[in-house]
Amino acid sequence: MNRSQQRSVGSWIPLGMEIGDSRRKSNHVTKVLTIFCVITILFIIVLTNSFQSKQINMFSHTEPGVTHVLVTGGAGFIGSHAALRLLKDSYRVTIVDNLSRGNLGAVKILQDQFPKPGRLQFIVADLGHPEEVDRIFSENAFDAVMHFAAVAYVGESTLEPLRYYHNITSNTLGLLEAMHRHNVKTLIYSSTCATYGEPEIMPITEETPQKPINPYGKAKKMAEDIILDFSKKTDIAVMIMRYFNVIGSDPDGRLGEHPRPELREHGRISGACFDAALGKIPGLKVKGTDYKTPDGTCIRDYIDVTDLVNAHVKALDKARPNKVGIYNVGTGKGRSVKEFVEACKKATGKKIRVEYLSRRPGDYALVFSDPTKIQKDLNWTAKYTSLEQSLRTAWRWQKSHQSGYD
Ligand SMILES: NC(=O)c1ccc[n+]([C@@H]2O[C@H](COP(=O)([O-])OP(=O)(O)OC[C@H]3O[C@@H](n4cnc5c(N)ncnc54)[C@H](O)[C@@H]3O)[C@@H](O)[C@H]2O)c1
Repeated sequence: MNRSQQRSVGSWIPLGMEIGDSRRKSNHVTKVLTIFCVITILFIIVLTNSFQSKQINMFSHTEPGVTHVLVTGGAGFIGSHAALRLLKDSYRVTIVDNLSRGNLGAVKILQDQFPKPGRLQFIVADLGHPEEVDRIFSENAFDAVMHFAAVAYVGESTLEPLRYYHNITSNTLGLLEAMHRHNVKTLIYSSTCATYGEPEIMPITEETPQKPINPYGKAKKMAEDIILDFSKKTDIAVMIMRYFNVIGSDPDGRLGEHPRPELREHGRISGACFDAALGKIPGLKVKGTDYKTPDGTCIRDYIDVTDLVNAHVKALDKARPNKVGIYNVGTGKGRSVKEFVEACKKATGKKIRVEYLSRRPGDYALVFSDPTKIQKDLNWTAKYTSLEQSLRTAWRWQKSHQSGYD
C-alpha cells in the first residue's frame, strides 16, 4: 500500500463512521418530527372539531339577549349590506344563499370582519329545495327571517316568467311553511315598488292600489298576498318593505354591488353608468326622452342601500306578534334619468357618452314614494339623499373592484 493509498484508506474509515452516525441521527430527527407533525395535526383536528361543534351549538340554541336572524340572499347586494349592519349591531346572523347571483367574496369579507364564534355562519342552499330549507330550520334556532333572496330584474322576468314565479312566489311560500313548522315568528320581507305598476297618482302611498304590470312585480305581489293571508291565521310579526330604486354601497368601502356580467343587459342604471365610466361599455343608452316629465326622461326615487338597511333594522326592532307593517322605503323625491347621468358624471369624474333612444316598452314615466308612513311608524327618514354622494361612494368601490370581489 503506498502513502497515497494509506491516506485515502485512513481517511475513508472515520468518514464512513460519521455518515452512519448522522444517518442514525437524521432518522431519529425525522421520527421525532413525524410524531410532532402527527400530534400537531391531531390537535388541530380536535380543536377544529370542537370549534365547529361549538359554532353549530351557538347557532342551534337560543341565547338570552341575542337575536339570531336568518338572512336569505345575504351574498347579494342588499342582503350583504343588511348582514353587515346586523352584525355591527350585535345580531347573530345566518346567511343562506345559493350563490346563483350573489358573491362568495362578500360573505368572506363579512366572515373576516366578524370571525368570532356565534356571530356569522354561511350556508349554501337553494330555497327552492324544501327538504334543505327544513333541515336548516331544524338545525338552527332563528328568531327572525329577513328574506332578500330573489331573482330581481324586471326585463328578465318578462323573458322567464315561470322562473320568477317559482323563485319569488313559490320559494316565499316554502320559507313561510318552514317558519311555521319551526315556530319562527318574525318576517321582514323584501318587496318592491314594482308591485304598484304604473299608478296615475304620485307620490305612491302604501294605499295606492297594487296593479303590477310585469312578472317580477306580480310574483312579489303574490308573495305579499300569501304572507298577508298567513298572518291572519297566526300571530306572526310581519314587515313588508317595498323598496324603490336602490343605489350606493357601504360607506367604508367593504361591500359593493357586483351583478354577474350576463345580467348587466337587464341591469340597473347605476351599474350601466359605472360600466360606461370604466370603459366596459361604449356609453349609456337612455331610453325615452318624450315622457311627460320636466326634462322628458323617466323619473325614479333612488334610495341609498345604507338607508335601506337602516329601515330594516328599525322594522325588525318594531316587529310585533299579530301585527303587519307595510312600508314604502324611498326618499319621497323623484330624480330624472338625465339628473342621474349628470350626478354619475360628477361622481366618477369621467366623460360618459350618452345616446338618447326611443322609449323601452313597459317603462313607466314617473315613480316616487310617499315615505310619510315609515317616518311616522318607524321613525325612519332617508339620510343619504345626495345622488352624487351615493354614486361617489359606490364608484370608489367599483373603481377598486373592477373584477368584483375576486
Ligand atoms: N336592487 C333593487 O333596486 C331592489 C329594488 C326593490 C326590491 N329589491 C329586492 O331586494 C332583494 C335583494 O335584491 P338585490 O338587489 O340584493 O339582488 P341580488 O341579486 O344582488 O341578491 C339576491 C340574492 O339572492 C340569492 N338567491 C336567489 N335565488 C335564490 C334561491 N333560490 N336560494 C337561495 N338564494 C337565492 C342570489 O344568489 C343573490 O345572492 C330582492 O328580493 C329584490 O327583489 C331590490
